[in-house]
Amino acid sequence: MKKVAILTAGGDCPGLNTVIRAITRTAIKQYGLEVMGILDGYRGLVEDRTVNLTLRSVEDILDRGGTILGSSNKDNPFAFLEKKDSEPVDMSQQCIAQLRAHGVDCLFTIGGDGTLTSARDFSRMGFPVIGIPKTIDNDLNATDQTFGFNTAVTTATEAMDKLRTTAEAHHRIAVVEIMGRYAGWLTLESGIAGGASVILIPEIPYDFDKVCEAVKKNTKNGKNYTIVAVSEGSKPIGGEVVIRKLVTNSPDAVRLGGIANKLAEELEERLGIEARATVLGHIQRGGQTSPFDRVLSTKYGVEAVELAMRGQFGRMVAMIDGKISSSTLEDAVGKLKTVPVDHELIKVARMIGVSFGD
Ligand code: F6P
Repeated sequence: MKKVAILTAGGDCPGLNTVIRAITRTAIKQYGLEVMGILDGYRGLVEDRTVNLTLRSVEDILDRGGTILGSSNKDNPFAFLEKKDSEPVDMSQQCIAQLRAHGVDCLFTIGGDGTLTSARDFSRMGFPVIGIPKTIDNDLNATDQTFGFNTAVTTATEAMDKLRTTAEAHHRIAVVEIMGRYAGWLTLESGIAGGASVILIPEIPYDFDKVCEAVKKNTKNGKNYTIVAVSEGSKPIGGEVVIRKLVTNSPDAVRLGGIANKLAEELEERLGIEARATVLGHIQRGGQTSPFDRVLSTKYGVEAVELAMRGQFGRMVAMIDGKISSSTLEDAVGKLKTVPVDHELIKVARMIGVSFGD
């Protein structure tokens, strides 16, 4: 093992830079390896755009959100679109040839389900790959926690802390839309931490009448405001998710969004109580990485290099039962980890009177 490469792809999240730093430092300090960064995710891999990563290049990035390498959530090297309307072309052989020409012995791919699916496919082609699980959605199978999630929970919680004071002053309903795609983890944890009276997640389609009842009960009990935490992927029983836009040149074209505005309007109309929607959006993906995520990302980065040194390719580092471990990329992708409806956190929330609109 002489040289490794790092790629960050998919939607960014806090902790990417921390992983880049941990891999680079471990690879150089412990094993004297060369480290190459690939720019802008899989697009940069196809276009062979790279940088040399040194101890100097990873200084002062421990807590910085985003990624110094850049990312892209549109590009699939196995069905690559040169431009928006181009025909998809399989560029995987070319990518591997380029990596080999650079003398790369292992590619670390840091990403979510889409990114790691391509990583698995490179691994199936015989190229040494190791995955590191990132996403604020925490929806990756085969790991208890992805990095980036804890920071996003903190951001969403702080937003609800702020909304509480203004909602209380005006006796309003504050409907907060939280990311997470088709998994409710982010809304569930931040909803509990942020004191939401109603938490709506994709795994539990809601009954609008029940949501109204929960708000009325809140008011009857003397609380003159209500926080409703709603996942962007939530839907009413028998209804559909609200789609913000379709990004047609992206492997997963659907971009969710708009449920908070819809719900706020419906609640105001039905209950005659003023309601305001707040969409947290990409604020949840930015900012300073939380101490928890800095530690988790550092552990993941170190373990990724250790796996490479042991020749255990085709794997993804993971957190299993509180311990750093790994699973196969085959097991890690293709299955979303959603919130089980009997999850401990749902039970806890129900015990303190939170309504899930069911
Ligand atoms: O997967 C991360 C995520 O932030 C989701 O929570 C959200 O639905 C999506 O990405 C937004 O994607 P984009 O950055 O393309 O708007």
